[in-house]
Amino acid sequence: MSEGIVLVTGGSRGIGAATATLLAEQGNNVVIVDIAPEPIAGGAILWSAPFDVASESVVVSGIADIEKAHGPISGLVNAAGIFGKMHRLEKVRMEQWDREVNIDLRGTFMVARSVGVRMAQRRHGAIVNVASVAGMTSGPIHAYTAAKAGVIQVTQTLAAEWGRVGVRVNAVSPGFTRTVALEAGIASGAMDKALLERHAAMGRMVEPSEVAQAIAWLLSPASSAVTGINLPVDAGFLAGSTWGAYGGLPQPPAS
Ligand SMILES: NC(=O)c1ccc[n+]([C@@H]2O[C@H](COP(=O)([O-])OP(=O)(O)OC[C@H]3O[C@@H](n4cnc5c(N)ncnc54)[C@H](O)[C@@H]3O)[C@@H](O)[C@H]2O)c1
Repeated sequence: MSEGIVLVTGGSRGIGAATATLLAEQGNNVVIVDIAPEPIAGGAILWSAPFDVASESVVVSGIADIEKAHGPISGLVNAAGIFGKMHRLEKVRMEQWDREVNIDLRGTFMVARSVGVRMAQRRHGAIVNVASVAGMTSGPIHAYTAAKAGVIQVTQTLAAEWGRVGVRVNAVSPGFTRTVALEAGIASGAMDKALLERHAAMGRMVEPSEVAQAIAWLLSPASSAVTGINLPVDAGFLAGSTWGAYGGLPQPPAS
């Protein structure tokens, strides 16, 4: 249990909601913010004003107001984000590129900076940014992969910036994670569940609660010497995805 509050962006749904629920169960005082704020089950407090991570004025005034209302932020989870649209290169619309980069990269940076400078003044805090295995590999989601690679880089830079003032900054990179957003992509036919599972060493997708466990560890004193890392939580997607070139991953013997 940490002193102060843990702020979770994108906390009304998906990985953010699973993380906020777990952190509250662990006894933390959790506040969630979202562009479409909705309460979640469990003990997390909802910040009811819409909080758009891509708006600098909303982020700067919102962080000040949240600390005024609920006390100092000692833990931050940057889970707000949107998926990349899959397009052939020629079809990438630059307005869509800007939207993905603005929310996923610029938004993550702005929230981390607004909260982190306050943590640095207090010489205490931990930040976890949600990146993606997409930021470590290539794919036809041009802006998203670039934005998520940027999140991994920003994480290291901020870890170096604040390492001597007691603020740790880390990233997690989920593989394909069974959130409503991903299920919708599968239902629409944009993604194929069997293909998503086939390339993971463990032959399955990741549960939001599994990403939440990794984030909770990176926020907790149990990871007190860990800063600047990017921890994949991907059911072995990175390990297994290149095996297609060699005929695919081995199938378990029939039991
Ligand atoms: N689900 C996956 O397979 C997967 C894999 C790798 C990385 N991720 C990343 O994890 C994060 C969460 O994804 P998810 O699957 O839980 O998605 P989700 O859509 O279920 O949840 C994202 C939340 O962020 C909020 N949000 C969107 N734009 C926002 C904005 N501008 N300001 C504030 N809140 C905003 C949404 O309202 C939503 O509540 C994203 O950064 C995503 O890129 C997801």
